[in-house]
Amino acid sequence: MNPQLRLVLLALALLASLLGSSASTAPAAVVAQETSTPSSAPVEAFSGERAKQTVEVLATEIGPRPAGSEALARATDYLRSAFEALGYETRGQEFPITAYVDGGASLRLVGAHTDVFTPAAVAYSASGEVEAEVVDAGLGRPEELAAAAGKLALIRRGELRFAQKVANAAAAGAVGVILYNDGPGTIAASLFAPGAIPAVMLSGEEGEALRAALVTTPLTAHLAVQGTVEQRTGRNVVAHRAGASGRTVVVGAHYDSVPNGPGANDNGSGTAVLLETARVMAGRPYPHTLELVAFDGEELGLLVSRFYVEQLSPAERQALVGMIDLDMLSVGETLQFAGSEALVAQALHLADLHGWPASRLGGALAGGSDHASFLRVGIEAVFIYRSDDPRYHSPLDTAEHVLPENLTTAGTLALGLLDFLAGR
Ligand code: BES
Ligand code: ZN
Repeated sequence: MNPQLRLVLLALALLASLLGSSASTAPAAVVAQETSTPSSAPVEAFSGERAKQTVEVLATEIGPRPAGSEALARATDYLRSAFEALGYETRGQEFPITAYVDGGASLRLVGAHTDVFTPAAVAYSASGEVEAEVVDAGLGRPEELAAAAGKLALIRRGELRFAQKVANAAAAGAVGVILYNDGPGTIAASLFAPGAIPAVMLSGEEGEALRAALVTTPLTAHLAVQGTVEQRTGRNVVAHRAGASGRTVVVGAHYDSVPNGPGANDNGSGTAVLLETARVMAGRPYPHTLELVAFDGEELGLLVSRFYVEQLSPAERQALVGMIDLDMLSVGETLQFAGSEALVAQALHLADLHGWPASRLGGALAGGSDHASFLRVGIEAVFIYRSDDPRYHSPLDTAEHVLPENLTTAGTLALGLLDFLAGR
């Protein structure tokens, strides 16, 4: 069958199931109970199995869906119809984005050693060809780049953002950067805005081999990166249901993925929980207006959630009680939360009530999702996440690793936080 047609049929089947059971799983007695304490929210009302079907559509049927791509636009249509079928009004928000178009990269040693590596261009890398000695620059902190002027800096993933590492190398006078993963395999790396010097990404294996070789022999390498930037369209999907309080709560999840992976956990999982939360909330009373937002462009640097926040009028911004961000909900043992203290404390409290292992997420990662766009303009927000995913930003981030029970956990938390925000 033609894949487009299959996609449409699958989406229709899913919509039918979404519609069919919202009545049967939300009896009146349960609805009445919902407005009381967070702990009384019925776990069975949220279906992780149903949410998993959305992950299948996004990650398996549609596949990689980077901002501005046709695949992303198919996901936009799918989500919009799904929200509308649940009774929400929807609006699409379109805004211009600068996308990086990868034209390939290469890296080989020259002279006595002629090894050939298999790098990927770092998104938004400068284009160009350089040949220079390679120096080990650790994690790319300024003090580790003292000997990098005129050289190629070899830098391991970790601690600093890739963009920061490349900016530090450029400031130290390096002519190019060779990044490598801090574990096996590779991940997509992006600078989010045009960089000053060519930069590539290697797997952990290749990077470690290069670093080990440098210990005994000075090495010279030839590095080439080709890429261009292109203006594309970013698309948020906003599902809306008016409440009587005059105040608004936003629940959001990014639905774009990196170009090199199907984005099942990152962030088919969050998008699926968003949609299933929409289904459950469709059967419940809620005092505040609900804005359920599927964000595009997160992987390009939180672009679209920023756009969402910026297009709010001062009155709309004032009316915002809080934001719940769902990103990477299915892999790992421990739940992690970052953001505003009251919301993080409530999330920890809810996890504790259910006996789910949970902790605070600190460091640079704590700012690495759409909630940060809300926090920076003073809106309370919480980021719900699970622990490190070994398949993060790789082709291996597929639907088979998404566990329905983890989606149920995240959904139950989101519903509990909505209850909490109802009282604010
Ligand atoms: N879901 C990730 C962020 C993430 C990964 C948070 C691991 C916590 C732990 C997100 O999609 C992402 O990759 N974000 C970018 C940064 C962002 C500012 C574009 C990242 O972390 O590199
Ligand atoms: Zn993500």
